[in-house]
Amino acid sequence: MTSIAGLLERLFTESLVAIMGEDGRGVDPLIRPATDVRFGDYQSNIAMSLAKRLGAKPRDLAQKIIDHLPADAQRVCEPFEIAGPGFINIRLAPAWMAEQLNLVPGASPGTLDRLGIEKVAAPKRVVVDYSGPNIAKQMHVGHLRSSIIGDTIARVLDFEGHQVIRQNHIGDWGTQFGMLCAYLKEKMPAALDQPDQVHLSDLEAFYREASARDKDDADFHERARAEVVALHNKNESTLRAWRYIVDESRRHYLPVYRRLGVLLTQEDERGESFYADRLPQVVGDFEQAGVITAPPGLFPGGAVLRVEVSQGALVIFFENAAGEPLFKSPEGKPLPMIIRKSDGAFLYATTDLAALQFRIKELGAERVIYVTDARQAQHFEMVFTAARAAGWTVQSEGTASSEVQLDHVTFGTILGEDRRPLKTRSGENVKLADLLDEAVRRAEALVRATEADPDKRRGFSDEEIRDVAEAVGIGAVKYADLSQNRQSDYVFSWDRMLALEGNTAPYLMYAYARIRSIYRKGAETQEGELNATQAPIQLTEPAERALGRQILRFAETIESVAAGLRINLLTDYLYELAGLFMKFYEHCPVLRAETPELKASRLRLCDLTARTLQVGLGLLGIRTLERM
Ligand code: ARG
Repeated sequence: MTSIAGLLERLFTESLVAIMGEDGRGVDPLIRPATDVRFGDYQSNIAMSLAKRLGAKPRDLAQKIIDHLPADAQRVCEPFEIAGPGFINIRLAPAWMAEQLNLVPGASPGTLDRLGIEKVAAPKRVVVDYSGPNIAKQMHVGHLRSSIIGDTIARVLDFEGHQVIRQNHIGDWGTQFGMLCAYLKEKMPAALDQPDQVHLSDLEAFYREASARDKDDADFHERARAEVVALHNKNESTLRAWRYIVDESRRHYLPVYRRLGVLLTQEDERGESFYADRLPQVVGDFEQAGVITAPPGLFPGGAVLRVEVSQGALVIFFENAAGEPLFKSPEGKPLPMIIRKSDGAFLYATTDLAALQFRIKELGAERVIYVTDARQAQHFEMVFTAARAAGWTVQSEGTASSEVQLDHVTFGTILGEDRRPLKTRSGENVKLADLLDEAVRRAEALVRATEADPDKRRGFSDEEIRDVAEAVGIGAVKYADLSQNRQSDYVFSWDRMLALEGNTAPYLMYAYARIRSIYRKGAETQEGELNATQAPIQLTEPAERALGRQILRFAETIESVAAGLRINLLTDYLYELAGLFMKFYEHCPVLRAETPELKASRLRLCDLTARTLQVGLGLLGIRTLERM
């Protein structure tokens, strides 16, 4: 399956080259999905934007572009139409669409279903930094978005054929570990000798008590500070305590990942501690350089870093070539990035500089994507600016050089019904594990209610009910989040996310199960095989055509998701697909189609729809069920 938009772009580019010579290759032919089905499937807006430059009337130019399209265009599309001021309306030819669908290979069990979608021609090595929970604290709802958005991005890029390196930048270093180690040594000395037998039952309480002691007890506070020094000096007993705390935290968050269908494993962990030894070097390099002028061309107005000591701390000031600050405080003063505090301690930013350097130089990243909430936007802008200006992001291979792409993918806040950040009734952060328990509990209640209804019951065993509830509950929470424009805040609503109607996981999962059941019924009574040779797909009815077109659009949807890292384009697509299937099923009898050929064709459309839903939900890390 090729991307239709991509194919149309190639055809139109050929026409532009025929008209304007090689200049035409640099022109974007402005292919867009049609705003209204009555105008066709796609449109090109290029004639209007190019007319002036070529000294032609837009409608005349539109005709010329149509006349110069390569012969293939007649096969792919129905006759072109010029509309209004010079839009070119593009309608895909049903025979061509059917041919494309017929080319999709069957799914082979045990291998990832790609629906015939090719991998990108130029794969990149991409680091995706996501989740990043803080050690010794339970994951709360704030970590949900980074974990699932990041995971979907990683899955999509992986599907596209990029080499994805997941990095879990856990917060496992810093002064608070002194207090945690001191507290652990005092309270649970046995844990250090028998780490596998003694467990912290409540990480959160442990953290709270340790902080309280640190505040109220001067003697303890002293010990905690000594532990910080001991940790930096790699004192064996302190390291043991630290390791115990990290292991214990991992025991809390790995199951949450597994439950969420987030693919992060222990191997993907590269926490802040990993970079601790590298910080003096990184900071030293900046300090020694003093003033760094960015390589020409990287920043529109130029960029200069001034590394200075300010009130005992080492800071980087950012300026453009005219000496104006690149970052300002709310009061309008130049805002520096602190990389070493006056007491010699390093900061979050210092670690991120070291991590970025490591990812580029040692992991060989050509692109690095960070997934955190929008509040860290300035932090990453500063880190990126420093790295670019220092020349870290220019990868050279032989004589060619390319710029490492750095992206900060941000997201908004999850709100409660009161439109304030979601909290428990008592005003605390909602623990992620509790939230997921509740989701599954609610989903189970819904399944049990259906099972109690003689008209609707499926006859599930207890075990099946629990399995369905788990998949639906978790899927609902994830989908409700991933279907949002990630930059906006959204209101968390159990009723909405668990509804069987609307753009929800239960609706899509139910559609999948229903289509599969139709397919199974049809395939049983089918003579001969349901493949393209025995049963070519035909797109005759409008509803068949609309469904076929939507299935074919999956490839370009994934392309757009990857291009803008906007996952809601995928959820919108899946919702539309399910809706078009329902219309098709309403208008086009499948099991009772007029001819065996038609039945076979429609069964294959069912199969392709179900597989597309499954692959699409799979990219969101949402499981499909054969029965629901
Ligand atoms: N631990 C951080 C937090 O909870 C997230 C880490 C994000 N990654 C990074 N390289 N800074 O906010």
